[in-house]
Amino acid sequence: MSMEKVLEYLKENQQKHLTELCEFLKIPSISALSEHKKDILRAVDFLVTELKELGLEVETIQTDGNPLVYAQTAPREGLPTLLFYGHYDVQPVDPLELWDSPPFEPTIKDDIIYARGGSDDKGQMYSHIKALEAYIKTGTPIPANIKLIFEGEEECGGHAIYKFTEENPQKLACDAVIVSDTTLYNETTPALCYSLKGLAYMEICVKGPGMDLHSGSYGGTVQNPGNAIAEIVAALKDNNGVVQIPGFYDDVLELDDEERAAFESLNYTNEVLCKDTGAPGPFGEKGFTTLERMWARPTCDVNGIWSGYTGEGAKTIIPATAGAKVSMRLVPNQDPDKIAQAFIEYVHSIAPEGVEVKVENLHNANPVLVDRDSKMMKAGFAAIEKGFGNKAVFIREGGSIPIVGTFQRSLKAPVLLLGYGLPNDNIHSPNEKYHLENYYNGIKTTAHLFEEVTKI
Ligand code: BES
Ligand code: MN
Ligand code: MN
Repeated sequence: MSMEKVLEYLKENQQKHLTELCEFLKIPSISALSEHKKDILRAVDFLVTELKELGLEVETIQTDGNPLVYAQTAPREGLPTLLFYGHYDVQPVDPLELWDSPPFEPTIKDDIIYARGGSDDKGQMYSHIKALEAYIKTGTPIPANIKLIFEGEEECGGHAIYKFTEENPQKLACDAVIVSDTTLYNETTPALCYSLKGLAYMEICVKGPGMDLHSGSYGGTVQNPGNAIAEIVAALKDNNGVVQIPGFYDDVLELDDEERAAFESLNYTNEVLCKDTGAPGPFGEKGFTTLERMWARPTCDVNGIWSGYTGEGAKTIIPATAGAKVSMRLVPNQDPDKIAQAFIEYVHSIAPEGVEVKVENLHNANPVLVDRDSKMMKAGFAAIEKGFGNKAVFIREGGSIPIVGTFQRSLKAPVLLLGYGLPNDNIHSPNEKYHLENYYNGIKTTAHLFEEVTKI
């Protein structure tokens, strides 16, 4: 009965909830760029104001990085406690010229909202607040104790939330952590994610001559850093897409037969891959399906590479320096520190003569595997199936959410990766989008989850 009131409220307030999300999306809270620090603080303010208006106990937690926003409902005995996590920071917007509408002027077209942060993660995290609002405004008792923690450095490798979680496990103590920062399987199939990849992010710097040289005068007499970085990068993988770093695959947890069959039954096609990515065809480690490579095999990829002259026309030089940024996406049970060390040693071992090569490990994240059989997982399935009106499946993701491993270790509670985005929402890219239907169904899912966890 009470759930009906909540659902009715949500239906009646869709327009209001959309307008409010747009206000949140207008704040350019880009954590990687220091000139946006004031926007980070505006996003904090926006959240604090709204959570206080709902009558929650709210705290802005100052850190040596961006503030954390914490809120909770007044604790009541005998109810399960749910901790919701999200990040209010967003990725930079470049290349700006490829956006069809300005990234911080949310634009609605065909029931899709275009804006940076729409899907990753403002639209998703905000749905939890709107679900709470529906209970509070209709005077419906929330059948669980709710805690919320929002951070502002997920996209830039900040450490504030790790430190806070490790130092305050009792404050965040809960029966389940809910993270909505992943995706549905596709437009019609909701999903619970049970594994995230980890990350070891590396930078290689190659130094050759003391200055750019005339390529005629000195070509062939000294090592060329541009050629050297190409040799190094070329040696990271063979033609079959197999990473060549010694020991790279040693700790990889192989898929079991059940998982492999479950992947198979999802019928993922390379047509979908090509449509979503715009790539001319699939490529990856031989001997594995596309989904296996996407979700369960570690990768090694250039993210950026530079050397020498790249402007208009011809300029004849031997460049003085070269470099590359390389990410390795890791799977359970690989250890990012160990892999980073293996990378450093391998790059030094293959570095061509005549240049100085430095390798640095910029940041890491642990891979995540969550329990698929927990009672909370059953509640998650029930909630998302009601919210989206379709049967849900298990998926994995290739992306990383660094705090999840810390939550598992420090809070010892099951984690639900309950995603409301789509794989082709263009997160981190131009024209990031969020489908209104997914926004509204996500809010409904969270509202159902409050109740479903009391039934298990
Ligand atoms: N929400 C993403 C993670 C994600 C990506 C989940 C794709 C599902 C599908 C998150 O905000 C993110 O971008 N994480 C970074 C972490 C990195 C900076 C340590 C990532 O994966 O690159
Ligand atoms: Mn995210
Ligand atoms: Mn992201």
